[in-house]
Amino acid sequence: MNKMKFQVGVIKGDGIGPEVVTEAQKVLNAIATKYGHEFDYKEILMGGCSIDATGEPLTDQAIADAKASDAVLMGSIGGNTQTSPWYKLPPEKRPEAGLLKLRKSLNLFANLRPAYLYKELREACPLREDIIGDGFDMMIMRELTGGLYFGARETKEVDGVMTAVDTLTYTEEEIRRIAKRGFDIAMKRRKKVTSVDKANVLDSSRLWRKIVEEVAADYPEVTYEHMLVDNCAMQLVKDPKQFDVILTENMFGDILSDEASMVTGSIGMLSSASLNDTKFGVYEPSGGSAPDIAGQGIANPIATILSAAMMLRYSFDLDREADAIEDAVKQVLAEGYRTIDIMPQENEKRSSVKQVGTKEMGDLIAARV
Ligand code: IPM
Ligand code: MN
Repeated sequence: MNKMKFQVGVIKGDGIGPEVVTEAQKVLNAIATKYGHEFDYKEILMGGCSIDATGEPLTDQAIADAKASDAVLMGSIGGNTQTSPWYKLPPEKRPEAGLLKLRKSLNLFANLRPAYLYKELREACPLREDIIGDGFDMMIMRELTGGLYFGARETKEVDGVMTAVDTLTYTEEEIRRIAKRGFDIAMKRRKKVTSVDKANVLDSSRLWRKIVEEVAADYPEVTYEHMLVDNCAMQLVKDPKQFDVILTENMFGDILSDEASMVTGSIGMLSSASLNDTKFGVYEPSGGSAPDIAGQGIANPIATILSAAMMLRYSFDLDREADAIEDAVKQVLAEGYRTIDIMPQENEKRSSVKQVGTKEMGDLIAARV
């Protein structure tokens, strides 16, 4: 057996972040023991906790530490935007600015967000039985370093009226590289790409469509279609089975991935990988820091645990080990263990499962890898 050693940057972050990352590390440690690998963790500060410690949401040292790692495992960052003092700071000093800076500094342009309905979680899915059918399995491919989240923005008074502007810019190169990634992933899946835009209104979307069409020409085996984002939001709840790879720009992908996560039962199940042109990646749950439930020990660690599995697969080429984690998650669900967010919707069905907390869920999965 090939023993391997990896340097893993660990960003615990804020809210439920530290709780869920601890469980993911527990599972990684179980993998290390079983397969004889070594994961060296280096803690990196980002978000609100970094503001409290250093005054900045992400320091240059933190960026350097992330770059020096083979991959970064992350929890979540940010607090309650209405009550936390972090949100009294200027926008570029707030927790989210740290995450955006990390993505940009590491050129993490490709964000993969798989949304998969486990058959064990059908009862937690808010959609009707006939819509669920045999379940669904999609990959949202979100562009992560362009568009509205990185364009120039400004708030100022114009002719006595407060006016705010955000700019949405995409270059053809930015579109081409994410489109290629989307089609490459589709080739390993069911070979269908739905490119989502708002080409009936936006110039950036019309360029998006043109470039996606050019890229599609290189993938004759892949069926592709264009879909307007408002229609896509509707189709995701009307007939999610139709989707394989959803390829879209930054903001649309942000919104649609939250929606897709909810149709799989809970945002607590949705993992993600943010990749650049190298083997490096940042792996984080798609959900937020959930400050309302932080510290209660009830957050679902599965999204973070599955993100760790993605890290093994995409950054470390440890497919067998990644499979072991995913199988362990399935097994624990099959045995009836549930965190509160994935409890069955109907009361009568609740007695057939066992509700557990964050730590217990981590223990159960670690014991089964
Ligand atoms: C996400 C988050 C971030 C985003 C925020 C925290 C900046 O919502 O990863 O989806 O919008 O990308
Ligand atoms: Mn989001």
